[in-house]
Amino acid sequence: MANMTMLITEEEIDKRCSDLGMEITKAYEGKSIHVIAVLTGSVFFACELTKYIMRPVTFDFITAASYGNSTESSGEVKVLKDLISDVEGKDILIIEDIIDSGRTLKKLKDMLQERKPNSIKICTMLDKPERRVVDVDVDYVAFKIPDKFVVGYGLDYTDGTMRNLPYIATME
Ligand code: IMP
Ligand code: MG
Repeated sequence: MANMTMLITEEEIDKRCSDLGMEITKAYEGKSIHVIAVLTGSVFFACELTKYIMRPVTFDFITAASYGNSTESSGEVKVLKDLISDVEGKDILIIEDIIDSGRTLKKLKDMLQERKPNSIKICTMLDKPERRVVDVDVDYVAFKIPDKFVVGYGLDYTDGTMRNLPYIATME
């Protein structure tokens, strides 16, 4: 059985969402935000964060999969479920659970750019900067974390479980 250690508490996540929400609110003065949450891992964070964004917000969801073994992504990223909405002219905020190699977000950003939105920004709950393989601009990061496998608050263990833990823990 893997060893689980608390990394970020629910209170810390909530406080950070409140601060980031305020920052995003200021950055989008006079604008509406079209949130694109990357399924499945980002939904807990996307719900918490957007409660603190005091601008009109609409939502859409996209599913991407990067191929490789269970804890490490390979080069190839595929879109398994596309958006329902037309994003042309919209101010998109992509919300992701974690940025690791950067391949998923790079692929999604490039793909959405072709659909002519007014702007695209990226917000991630977690960032493992040491792991970056592909360069991608991330506008908002809730927490930078060390290169350890984490679960909870949307993030799953290798078998799809543990997403519903109300905190973030490392697994070793
Ligand atoms: P990237 O394309 O390498 O940046 O991969 C990002 C994706 O890998 C995330 O959306 C997660 O699904 C998954 N991932 C990366 N690190 C972890 C982790 O520590 N725990 C759970 N999932 C992870
Ligand atoms: Mg993911």
